[in-house]
Amino acid sequence: MNIVDIINKKRLNKELTPEEITFFVDGYVQETINDYQMSSLLMAICINGMSYEETSNLTEVMLHSGDTIDLSMLKGIKVDKHSTGGVGDKTTMILLPLVAACGVIAPKMSGRGLGFTGGTIDKLESIPGFKTNLTNEEFINQVEKIGCSVVSQTGNLVPADKKIYALRDVTGTVESIPLIASSIMSKKLASGADKIVIDLKVGNGALMKNLEDARTLATTMVEIGKRHNKEVVCLLTDMNQPLGNAIGNALEVKESIDVLDGKGPKDIRNLVIVLATIMVSLGLNISTEEANKLVLEKLSNKEGLKKFREMVAMQGGDIDAIKVSDKVVSIKSKKTGFVKSINTDMLGEIVRKLGGGRYNKEDNIDSSVGIVLSIKQGDYILEDEEILKVYINEKDIKVEEILECFEIDNTSGGVLPLVYELIK
Ligand code: URA
Repeated sequence: MNIVDIINKKRLNKELTPEEITFFVDGYVQETINDYQMSSLLMAICINGMSYEETSNLTEVMLHSGDTIDLSMLKGIKVDKHSTGGVGDKTTMILLPLVAACGVIAPKMSGRGLGFTGGTIDKLESIPGFKTNLTNEEFINQVEKIGCSVVSQTGNLVPADKKIYALRDVTGTVESIPLIASSIMSKKLASGADKIVIDLKVGNGALMKNLEDARTLATTMVEIGKRHNKEVVCLLTDMNQPLGNAIGNALEVKESIDVLDGKGPKDIRNLVIVLATIMVSLGLNISTEEANKLVLEKLSNKEGLKKFREMVAMQGGDIDAIKVSDKVVSIKSKKTGFVKSINTDMLGEIVRKLGGGRYNKEDNIDSSVGIVLSIKQGDYILEDEEILKVYINEKDIKVEEILECFEIDNTSGGVLPLVYELIK
């Protein structure tokens, strides 16, 4: 077998065998296949796609390229949640303690942010003292004791994805449904949960820009799950505006606490309720009606918040010490009209420029900076009314650049839905 034949086969849009897939993944990890050959093959996959069979086989080989996590010592159904990433997406921090308060077992490995969306680990680390690098034993003990824990992904989980993703990032081959599906699913399957809920973001602040592509990706991931005997549920949700009002690490933790305290913006609260209902229904094997009742109860009696405090304390964090910058600038609208659209990516980029995100893996993050929106898409705003507050520290802002993120018009354009559909 040789790599040139495999590249040619994919270029001619033929289906690759499991042996050929194993050959190129293992060869790339072991460096017998080099970057230019792999780039060429990835581009052929990008253009010609892969069948379910090929995508499932690719996932399988990637999943076994490194360590896999064994959670079998935890009794009960383990439910994992994954988000494909979006600006202001703080759902994991709220969901995990909330579903754990309902009795679901929710161990979670999360990533750091690279790019404009930010990662859950960075957000949680804005809580002074919060440890995300627990040992396996500490992680399992905590989940046994309180039902939930969030830790950073271990070094050797799916190394094939790390290597292939880094190459995709610089060769224009990120946007391929089989490559995205196998990348996400290999990591989810390696993390050891029994059931997986995926919040698949769609819109101008997401990787999937339209519903049709999002549906195809969701169906592919559900199918991979079936072939690996894992139940996968995908919820297609909107990312044409930030989720909630807060963008920025410490600000997002504070907003998460607000939601668990029965307050907070409507959109994030509602999305958390939908996702938690799905997770509780899967984790406890009960109907969605029963699950929804339980979730609402744990929100209103603040048991979700109590669980969050417990999780933070067990991981060494001090909620009362969370700090946001006290240098706050209010940005006002120059126009009267409806907020027709919000450039979500750009707002995420602005927070990154303020120091709230990374450009390189080694960069330090300033947790205290960010943005809090005062309006959402579809709202009516008056000239001189506040659009948002910016929390700054050392880096300055360009007001014009911020205002350009908002299209304000005489016609409303309607209000965007929060959830599009569920695929399972
Ligand atoms: N997220 C992933 O983990 N992988 C991709 O390929 C895209 C998004």
